Amino acid sequence: MLLLQVILLGLLSLHAPSNSATATDTVSPGNGLAGSSRLVSNNSKFALGFFRMDSKSFNYATNPYTYLGIWFNKVPKLTPLWSANGESPVMDPASPELAIAGDGNLVILDQATRSVIWSTHANTTTNDTVAVLQNNGNLVLRSSSNSSTVFWQSFDYPTDTFFAGAKIGWDKVTGLNRRLVSRKNLIDQAPGLYTGEIQKNGVGHLVWNSTVEIESTGLWNGQYFSSAPEMIGNTVSITTFEYVNNDKEVYFTWNLQDETAIVLSQLGVDGQGMVSLWIDKDWVVMYKQPVLQCDAYATCGPFTVCDEGENEGPICNCMKGFSVSSPRDWELGDRRDGCTRNTPLHCGRSRNTDKFYAPQNVMLPQDAMKMQAATSDEDDCSRACLGNCSCTGYSYGEGGCSVWHGKLTNVKKQQPDGNGETLYLRLAAKEVPGVPRKNSRIFRFGAAIIGASAAAVAALMILGLMMTWRRKGKLFTRTVGDAQVGIGITTFRYVDLQHATKNFSEKLGGGSFGSVFKGYLSDSLALAVKRLDGANQGEKQFRAEVSSVGIIQHINLVKLIGFCCQGDQRLLVYEYMPNHSLDAHLFKVGSDTVLEWNLRYQIAIGVARGLAYLHTGCRDCIIHCDIKPENILLDASFVPKIADFGMAKVLGREFSDAITTMRGTIGYLAPEWISGEAVTSKVDVYSYGSVLFEIVSGRRNSSQEYSKDGDYSAFFPVQVARKLLSGDIGSLVDASLHGNVNLEEVERVCKVACWCIQDSEFDRPTMTEVVQFLEGVSELHMPPVPRLLDAITGGATNTKIYSMLSVEGSPTSV
Ligand SMILES: *[C@@H]1O[C@H](CO)[C@@H](O)[C@H](O)[C@H]1NC(C)=O
Ligand SMILES: *[C@@H]1O[C@H](CO)[C@@H](O)[C@H](O)[C@H]1NC(C)=O
Ligand SMILES: *[C@@H]1O[C@H](CO)[C@@H](O)[C@H](O)[C@H]1NC(C)=O
Ligand SMILES: *[C@@H]1O[C@H](CO)[C@@H](O)[C@H](O)[C@H]1NC(C)=O
Ligand SMILES: *[C@@H]1O[C@H](CO)[C@@H](O)[C@H](O)[C@H]1NC(C)=O
Ligand SMILES: *[C@@H]1O[C@H](CO)[C@@H](O)[C@H](O)[C@H]1NC(C)=O
Repeated sequence: MLLLQVILLGLLSLHAPSNSATATDTVSPGNGLAGSSRLVSNNSKFALGFFRMDSKSFNYATNPYTYLGIWFNKVPKLTPLWSANGESPVMDPASPELAIAGDGNLVILDQATRSVIWSTHANTTTNDTVAVLQNNGNLVLRSSSNSSTVFWQSFDYPTDTFFAGAKIGWDKVTGLNRRLVSRKNLIDQAPGLYTGEIQKNGVGHLVWNSTVEIESTGLWNGQYFSSAPEMIGNTVSITTFEYVNNDKEVYFTWNLQDETAIVLSQLGVDGQGMVSLWIDKDWVVMYKQPVLQCDAYATCGPFTVCDEGENEGPICNCMKGFSVSSPRDWELGDRRDGCTRNTPLHCGRSRNTDKFYAPQNVMLPQDAMKMQAATSDEDDCSRACLGNCSCTGYSYGEGGCSVWHGKLTNVKKQQPDGNGETLYLRLAAKEVPGVPRKNSRIFRFGAAIIGASAAAVAALMILGLMMTWRRKGKLFTRTVGDAQVGIGITTFRYVDLQHATKNFSEKLGGGSFGSVFKGYLSDSLALAVKRLDGANQGEKQFRAEVSSVGIIQHINLVKLIGFCCQGDQRLLVYEYMPNHSLDAHLFKVGSDTVLEWNLRYQIAIGVARGLAYLHTGCRDCIIHCDIKPENILLDASFVPKIADFGMAKVLGREFSDAITTMRGTIGYLAPEWISGEAVTSKVDVYSYGSVLFEIVSGRRNSSQEYSKDGDYSAFFPVQVARKLLSGDIGSLVDASLHGNVNLEEVERVCKVACWCIQDSEFDRPTMTEVVQFLEGVSELHMPPVPRLLDAITGGATNTKIYSMLSVEGSPTSV
């Protein structure tokens, strides 16, 4: 909640509007609105009036348009949230007036001519109406005598802003579709090309020019949109959301926990949805979707290269041989016309002199046309393109010959390590520098259509829900040190994490999954950044982690701060754990610091609580599948946090027949893993039991000394099971503790551990029961010696048992 304090402090420094004393929230017959006067909602949060965007900072633009609109009353930087007459602006020199017309409708009149510029066109049943600007920013035209008789409301006709409390979606009875529509440019409030809407089937979409779908939210699964698991996980968040789909309507809406926070959720001119928070003196962008502007379809227009790399400078640039079509529109952020050719192609005249030029390292446009006939070699492909006047480029690669006709859109600059095909851009000969390069394959292109995976991270409908700390490509550090806690999941750019980790220089650890690096979000906030290796495996782990850690929060589970999913890169960002993992403390040889018994006991309980929460506390049952000391991290106060959900399995409550593929780490695996039976959350109980033994002994269960020459009689769990019966448990405790232990607790831990590693999962306790045993809330019977272990001590050399105990040494992931 620190964030809210920051916001509140920010608000205090704002100037109160000068005319607030006289402001009213109502327009009534005979009491109109003109000039600079305005309505202010009763809570002073929203204002309505005539406005004109400032065009002074633009080189080409003058601005003759005046609109009726709504904005945040206390935000001094004019930010229109809604405009009435985007398609019919009041043009200079007319001066407008807002009034109630004789038929009861709310209208904008030209004061001089009394002509109607805009009207609510509602079917009013009375001319006794008033228009009220409500506390949520909704402008409502209603009966003056009966406030529940509403004829028209601005929430039904949203422009580019998703107001808290407004619905986006369909009224299935009246056929009203409330959707977000971007604005034409930074000063013109006419509708633009991007729309954010919930379709009648209930799926949210971000769409370009009514035709191209940029992103989809997937279906609602009761908790979140299926493509956006990160919607959950904001247990402490400043926003809440609601989704309704029934016979009458389907909609999505969000709300502010704290009414005083000023949060803007808007679909930008360039197609990017953004959530911003007003802090102090400016908007701070907290979330963008798509994360990269270049992933917003056609954001730069035709014949451009979108470059969102590390180099400074504009994101949108014309291709070689092209110039900006309309500098005025371009400057105002409306780049739909993109760039046009400087020199017309020679095509059609006697001898074709057109050449090809390839901009470096870009991703191909999507709408390629395959040329089956011309695939024998690259020269054929090039000739095929030259032979058709509408052909603007080609590429020749593993997929054969592809050509493009007409406009080339969505060409994106790739990361330097991106590989793929080559695109050749057709230009008039004089535009191509130096020698013709027709046959040189010096430029690399990425072929994959990105965005697809990044896009899985949902669309516009979740705008109000997630908060990210990114601002103009730089990590946002102003308040993050304090405010970051509990605000939800962040989407990072790769370059940001590169900077945060000083180019991945400080390695904390590694494994088959990849490596973990230390980083800093600000001077005070340290991060652990996990970079997943291996395209496929990495992707799987990444999904597993985000969809399990992403939807859960518990003091004993490591907190996922955010992730990066850009191109091939898959990175997960966690809070940094200064005391590393449990194994470092338990198995450290020759160390002078010993993990005290009371800490060990607290760690045992903490891990049990974390697992209990995973198994039963969140709505879906999550099996971690890889509990071991390496995956138990310790914070500054040695509070344990279960980490590494790369193996985790999310099971629906009803899902009983579980998983049979091999997971986990040898040495901590329950017998049912090895026998190939279906597993349940009891496999975690088994692994947890194994860890308990190690907490007591300070050595690995699989340690060589327990299993000399195939004799397992000294195997620690077996010793424990036996000593429990003979009552000599003290002799088993880690010698480096020098007897400074609570023997009652040791016995309890040993009993629980023995119950946890019972052969049959039905004999093992649940993690909830384990917590109760360890807390001393309930008592435990003496556990039987597990049969499997009994067999081992009898000297059995069953390979099954052998592999289970991992006598080869330290545990390995399988
Ligand atoms: C406006 O707010 C004041 C308190 O700030 C309250 O007393 C009053 O009833 C409100 N008026 C309406 C119409 O809600
Ligand atoms: C409303 O309509 C009645 C008759 O239909 C008319 O007399 C009255 O002047 C109208 N009121 C306004 C405010 O236009
Ligand atoms: C008013 O009623 C007419 C006919 O009943 C209908 O076509 C029109 O859409 C309605 N207008 C509004 C704003 O509801
Ligand atoms: C006010 O309008 C609502 C809805 O139109 C209606 O149900 C209610 O009876 C009206 N109340 C009065 C006092 O007329
Ligand atoms: C949007 O689509 C319409 C019709 O489908 C088309 O005429 C128009 O050129 C498109 N706009 C752009 C910028 O491509
Ligand atoms: C050029 O390509 C377009 C698109 O495939 C095709 O419609 C047209 O007929 C071609 N023109 C010639 C001269 O081959």
